[in-house]
Amino acid sequence: MAKEIKVKVKRFDPSIDRDPYIQEYVVPFEDGMSVANVLCWISDNLDPTLAFYISCRIGKCEACLLKVNGKGKLACTELVTGDIELEPIGKTRVIKDLVRAPNVGVPVVKLDR
Ligand code: FES
Repeated sequence: MAKEIKVKVKRFDPSIDRDPYIQEYVVPFEDGMSVANVLCWISDNLDPTLAFYISCRIGKCEACLLKVNGKGKLACTELVTGDIELEPIGKTRVIKDLVRAPNVGVPVVKLDR
């Protein structure tokens, strides 16, 4: 039987939700999976309503920055080794789920290396 991981995502759609909530997904695990791979798998196979943002996929643009188990990481380069908790990072308003408004005039969020 293939290994599975649990992925907890902090979700919030300000157009319909009163408060953020945690949604849990079970995802098949493969060695070398990135957080971005996990998010795309969820979107393709379980829940197309999950909002996240990925652009260059090579760790250059930092568009995919989010909190992975409480630390700032790039979803496209952060490898998954087990269960993970994901939430948006920064202080700007949440547009939906893991997507925040751009950092215009707001201090830049630091990546935890
Ligand atoms: S998508 Fe550009 S750094 Fe991750």
